[in-house]
Amino acid sequence: MKIAVLKERAGGEARVAVTPETVKKFIALGASVAVEAGAGNTAAIADEAYVEAGAEIAPSEQVVREADIVLGVQAPETALLTGARPGAWVAATFDPFGQRDRVDAYAKAGFEALAMEFMPRITRAQSMDVLSSQANLAGYKAVVAAADQYGRAFPMMMTAAGTVQAARVFVMGVGVAGLQAIATAKRLGAQVSATDVRPETAEQIRSLGAKPVFAEGLEASGEGGYAAELTDEQKAAQAEMVSGHIAKQDIVITTALIPGRAAPRLVSEAQIATMKRGSVIFDLAVAQGGNVEGSKPDELVESHGVTIMGFSNTPASLAPDTSALFARNLYNFLSAFWDKEAGRPMLDEEIGNAVRLTQGGKVVNERLLG
Ligand SMILES: NC(=O)c1ccc[n+]([C@@H]2O[C@H](COP(=O)([O-])OP(=O)(O)OC[C@H]3O[C@@H](n4cnc5c(N)ncnc54)[C@H](O)[C@@H]3O)[C@@H](O)[C@H]2O)c1
Repeated sequence: MKIAVLKERAGGEARVAVTPETVKKFIALGASVAVEAGAGNTAAIADEAYVEAGAEIAPSEQVVREADIVLGVQAPETALLTGARPGAWVAATFDPFGQRDRVDAYAKAGFEALAMEFMPRITRAQSMDVLSSQANLAGYKAVVAAADQYGRAFPMMMTAAGTVQAARVFVMGVGVAGLQAIATAKRLGAQVSATDVRPETAEQIRSLGAKPVFAEGLEASGEGGYAAELTDEQKAAQAEMVSGHIAKQDIVITTALIPGRAAPRLVSEAQIATMKRGSVIFDLAVAQGGNVEGSKPDELVESHGVTIMGFSNTPASLAPDTSALFARNLYNFLSAFWDKEAGRPMLDEEIGNAVRLTQGGKVVNERLLG
């Protein structure tokens, strides 16, 4: 059983899909691991560390040759996989809706694409969930980056020369990233409020010491703990609440997503115009279309004296930590299904059918066929 890991090729990607820790663990299961030379450089992992853990370091063609499983953060193009075993598994994120052509190419090439972002959100798969592990650190980074951009202090400071007021931080969307954003802003000493469309988040906001701010009667819970899209009436109610609240905020962190759809628009230019000069908005959803009018990936946009910011790949900006968690997610996934006799993982139906995009030359995933 040969596991192969390539250097990530996508622009701006700094993460890597294995760490020396997971290399050792895969070897303990009986697999061999080959890693492309330099694959860990941007995540602060030297080739020597992989070698010490027992991996082979080689150029990409040699790494992929006869591989049974290829691991990636973002799935490699199929051209890079020439020489892998027919039917080899590729476990990575695929952006299956956004990059359907790549999924079709995997089917055509006869590989089994396993999309980590399709991991079901069930208790036993929590340790395999890359969306959660990466969102958690992204929520942290959004606050730290916004704090750095903000020209004032976060905590209230009482000095001999007078008092500096605490920053007011408003977090919109309280999933995994939003909860971490609240916790981080609290740790930095800000006064934090937060909103969502799932009512159960109000208690979670309170438990972190922040203030829930909800539009009266607004509820839009969808399937599997996710949000549903708002009706026009609900959107208007939410916009009214936001208009009343946002003018008093110094920092706004938006994290709202709806699975399989463009990110919902939460903040309009007219609302930004009511904010104080020098305020900062970090749009964590910028790569999915953005929650904030005017936000652009990897750019600082000035709008009415307010800076709007957001990264196209926030987890990549914390590559050593996000790689460590991503690599563990992949290990937890494959090891949970490891069949000792077969010497390889055998997926069960619930998780296998959820993550498998292609098999036997065809696209097989329900979410892509429906
Ligand atoms: N394995 C598991 O059991 C597991 C793992 C991870 C997350 N979860 C749960 O899944 C849920 C979704 O988490 P996520 O972080 O992936 O969410 P997400 O990234 O899909 O969305 C982020 C947040 O934005 C909110 N949102 C969507 N539209 C909005 C709008 N118009 N206005 C305001 N907020 C809006 C969502 O309700 C969500 O809280 C949470 O309940 C989380 O606890 C479960």
